[in-house]
Amino acid sequence: RIAGPSGLVIFGVTGDLSRKKLMPAVYDLANRGLLPPGFSLVGFARRDWEDQDFAQVVHEAVKEHARTEFREEVWQQLSEGMRFIPGDFDDDHAFEELRKAVDELDASRGTSGNYAFYLSVPPKFFPKVVQQLKKHGLADAPEGSWRRAVIEKPFGHDLASAQELNALVHDVFEPDQVFRIDHYLGKETVQNILALRFANTMFEPIWNRSYVDHVQITMAEDIGIGGRAGYYDGIGSARDVIQNHLLQLMALTAMEEPASFDAASLLTEKLKVFRAVRLPDDLGLHTVRGQYAGGWQGGEQVRGYLEEDGIDPASTTDTYAAMRLAIDNRRWAGVPFYLRTGKRLGRRVTEIAVVFQRAPHSPFDQTATEELGANAVVIRVQPDEGMTVRFGSKVPGTSMEIRDVSMDFAYGESFTESSPEAYERLILDVLLGDANLFPRHQEVEESWRILDPVEEYWATHGKPAQYASGSWGPQEADEMLARDGRSWRRP
Ligand code: BG6
Repeated sequence: RIAGPSGLVIFGVTGDLSRKKLMPAVYDLANRGLLPPGFSLVGFARRDWEDQDFAQVVHEAVKEHARTEFREEVWQQLSEGMRFIPGDFDDDHAFEELRKAVDELDASRGTSGNYAFYLSVPPKFFPKVVQQLKKHGLADAPEGSWRRAVIEKPFGHDLASAQELNALVHDVFEPDQVFRIDHYLGKETVQNILALRFANTMFEPIWNRSYVDHVQITMAEDIGIGGRAGYYDGIGSARDVIQNHLLQLMALTAMEEPASFDAASLLTEKLKVFRAVRLPDDLGLHTVRGQYAGGWQGGEQVRGYLEEDGIDPASTTDTYAAMRLAIDNRRWAGVPFYLRTGKRLGRRVTEIAVVFQRAPHSPFDQTATEELGANAVVIRVQPDEGMTVRFGSKVPGTSMEIRDVSMDFAYGESFTESSPEAYERLILDVLLGDANLFPRHQEVEESWRILDPVEEYWATHGKPAQYASGSWGPQEADEMLARDGRSWRRP
């Protein structure tokens, strides 16, 4: 899988995402030999830069963040195809310059008119950039070439705004020209969920309501909001993470086998899950939101959310969210899916735990199984990528005592191959036109349909509960599970 002749234009090239993820990913792809020799990278931003200044910025980003080792000859070839267009998004002249740059690169580097436009810009600029691409003839591919739009989240902040955004984008680009980024789908361990389930025989027979008690999906971060107050406040953790990453993880965990491994079949199965999702009747009892208070983390004293720079001290934005969802279909009826995410939690970990029912009968004395927990399959998305299977085993000795043990699969031990960074994989897929790992507009809209009532409920019912930085979230979240006779895993 090597990309054919093509180029990438990044809007918002001076942003954090571009510097930390996109530029290094382009270099790593080139270094792995996955880009065509004439690949070109065009930056567009409001800076007074020449091409060389842009190349210098990319150079620094690559040196600091690339995964693969720096090789001068790879860099030379790549940097010769770097161009910079100064201007803001209203500037017609700048878009004309962009069009000229694309033509010039077609001629000098053989990019063949194949271009992806990456909108790494705040959502309020999406409409303008998309309209300018149309106005300056950049959205229409010349005969035999392609043009694609890559859109970063957030795709709206609720169903209505997502629909509006989709309509606007589809006014300019056909649905199969649009690639929406959910970088979780680019993660190796996330792609492995379907491999585990559908390339093996041992998991699928028990992957249903007859054996599964419940599923817990956790995405915990130890960091706070850092310098992202402008983006985060008013958005919060549920919109930032549950609407996209966690609902996608849930869909992959719960979906039926696709007819084949292509974008249309995957979409069909994921949509069936989203459409079957039901919120609990009492949102007050089965959803929880929280806000981190100050505390100690990693040996350092950290500020609470309301004391962070740029945050309104009366903000009710959630930095922690947990909820119980049901999937009303034959496979999952009665099996709760608990989703939770938060900033400033005990540690950075993302995992999917499928927790099984207890054995229906035990021939052992009650004392023998006192220490035995529920069986579980835990897909460790990050940082210790792999999988754990937990089950009971007899403790060596002269009496019968059964205790939990675990069997581990770790990427580092089983594979010598390294995992590409999520953005590397996704950028390559865009250039190849492979849409398997990109959420379609229907999925985006369905996930807002799920989340909107929760956000509306929260907006009119009190404030988020406070939790100490470095803890595992508000006590209310523990109570929420305790009411169901369950408890959160401590990863
Ligand atoms: C982003 C969220 O989508 O994912 C961030 O906007 C979050 O708030 C980030 O920190 C986490 O990504 P990862 O890959 O580090 O788990």
